[in-house]
Amino acid sequence: MYPIWDVPYLSSALVIGLIASFHVLPSHLAVGALWVTVYIEKLAYLRNRPDYLDFVKRFTLLLLIFSFIFGSLSGIGIWYSATVSSPRGISGLIHNYVWGWATEWVFFIIEIATIYAYYYTLGKVDPKTHIRIGYLYALAAWISMIIITGILAFMLTPGKWLETGDFFDGFFNPTYFPQLLARTFLMFGVAGIYGLTIASTLKKPTKLDLTKIISRVAFGGMILGGLFVIWYLSKLPQSAKELYTGLPYLSKLGKIALVCYLILVFYFLLTGFVIPRLNNLILTSLLMLLTFVGILCAEGIREGIRRPFIINYFMYGHQVIAKDLPAKNIKAEIEVIQKEGLLPRLGYLPDSLRKITSENRLEVGRIIALHNCANCHAFTEKGLRPLPALFGKLSPQSPEDIDAFLAALGSFPYMPPFAGNDEERKVAAEYLFTLIKK
Ligand code: HEC
Repeated sequence: MYPIWDVPYLSSALVIGLIASFHVLPSHLAVGALWVTVYIEKLAYLRNRPDYLDFVKRFTLLLLIFSFIFGSLSGIGIWYSATVSSPRGISGLIHNYVWGWATEWVFFIIEIATIYAYYYTLGKVDPKTHIRIGYLYALAAWISMIIITGILAFMLTPGKWLETGDFFDGFFNPTYFPQLLARTFLMFGVAGIYGLTIASTLKKPTKLDLTKIISRVAFGGMILGGLFVIWYLSKLPQSAKELYTGLPYLSKLGKIALVCYLILVFYFLLTGFVIPRLNNLILTSLLMLLTFVGILCAEGIREGIRRPFIINYFMYGHQVIAKDLPAKNIKAEIEVIQKEGLLPRLGYLPDSLRKITSENRLEVGRIIALHNCANCHAFTEKGLRPLPALFGKLSPQSPEDIDAFLAALGSFPYMPPFAGNDEERKVAAEYLFTLIKK
């Protein structure tokens, strides 16, 4: 076990959540954008409309700055925040998928090289070559999505990997294809909203023409993407469906995501087929915000229905291994920790905290509690699922009441069993009780 990253108010989970949800915007833009742009570039040559190329230039510049600066930075942000908040979780993924990531980075480098080439050679090389560079980019970007989706989907539905430990059994898991197709088509919606933003800054005839084209592509993508989301939902394991209906906040997120989706589809329908004039910078900026809210909710659900695990059925949210994986020589840890204790595994602790004494009870209790709960709960008065408030509602009368709650944690469908022996559970309960009295 590594030290715990305790983030007041937010909890470490929400830090990753915010960075990762933001990252969806530039990353999905990066994958969707050039299919749309190259299509418009082709139309520019076919219809002899050099004014369309203005759009191509501006859109690509936006892509360069937004996706390849903010997107890259937030991508690294996910690695940093995931590494400190759940080092064993990320280690579990790397031990399975390091070659997956290595492959993704090869395509990412092709993306970076070709996007610069595409931007700086517009109007300087012959159209055919330029369009080829565009397709090369678009293909490399999509392949990076093909790869990363396997790892993302694996975390929720590891499938046969749980028995075989095999790279491809985990990669081509039950939700892989529905999720890949859903992301592939929904990204045209993300690209569409950016495209409309750029189009709204152009002169009238160009603006109206391009608004129509972009909105129609985005509308089609959103409808197909929506259908694949339905397929995706049907493939979810029963435990995930039960969590979704059992935890009220998840169904609330679901409703918000649906409303965001419908508003976007309606806007694309209006600007694509009825009144392209409607497209303007203020509206698209608001819709961009709405897109972000929708993504935040959808990704929040995807993470939420995996509880109490980081890697479903294999590693709990508190980073303890739940299940034997003989193929990889990995043994379940939870029962052992409940017998032998968590403290012997916290190698980073100073000697003064390695044994429970009458002086250090509360301090050790806090460390044990942090290891067990901080990935999902804030320890502060306010914030994400704050423990003082949640316990306050249960109104325990003594540390023993909390101890009984901790002993029963495993019976909640969304919380892992307590990781620690009886004495550790007792000091954790004593510490948690001090939070409520405050
Ligand atoms: C894997 C994530 C996760 C971990 C780890 C976790 N919890 Fe929770 N906990 C939740 C979720 C989700 C809820 C439901 C909150 C809601 O309904 O919004 C919850 C609810 C609670 C509640 C309210 C009771 C209830 O029935 O809803 C208490 C009290 C609580 N947790 C205490 C703890 C304590 C103490 C620990 C550590 C020993 C812990 N939790 C570890 C996710 C977790």
